[in-house]
Amino acid sequence: MADRLVLVGMMGSGKSTVGRQLAARLGWAFLDSDAMVVASTGSTVAELFGSGGEDAFRAEESRVLAEALASDTPAVVSAAGGSVLAEANRALLATQAIVVWLRAQPSTLASRIRPGGHRPLLGDDHAGALAELDAVRRPLYEEVADVVVDVDDLDAPQVVDRILALTAFERSRP
Ligand code: S3P
Repeated sequence: MADRLVLVGMMGSGKSTVGRQLAARLGWAFLDSDAMVVASTGSTVAELFGSGGEDAFRAEESRVLAEALASDTPAVVSAAGGSVLAEANRALLATQAIVVWLRAQPSTLASRIRPGGHRPLLGDDHAGALAELDAVRRPLYEEVADVVVDVDDLDAPQVVDRILALTAFERSRP
């Protein structure tokens, strides 16, 4: 199995920013599940939620996650916040990757998230929606995580340092 690090966590926890920086530090590929969904369907996340509902989006999300975890090159994968909802995805994560949970307080998430974009579940009350989703998902992130990093007081390079220290992965290409 190729080396694979998957970042999980709530919207706003920094998965994409940290993932990109981490991949650059390791010399690995970077895959972002939302970007993979958009590339393979030709629709934005918001359009998919609008046309087929959340279930249609989740099916695409599961498909690209399996694809990302089957890659035969070392990769850092940023898995969208809801990726842990499906039991099949959690089983894949448990067996196919080292999983890092970027854990944050809902208040941190709310302060980092900008209005608009690819997060239709947040509606108009970001803080309220984030708190509700966080309560449901916290045990699921915990279930799949091999490593937990509390990101509330860290910037992205500090999170990358922490992940590298905790996983002991090293740069694999010059
Ligand atoms: C979602 C998170 C979003 C995106 C969609 C649903 C979620 O991705 O997939 O809006 O259910 O947590 P990020 O976690 O990258 O923001």
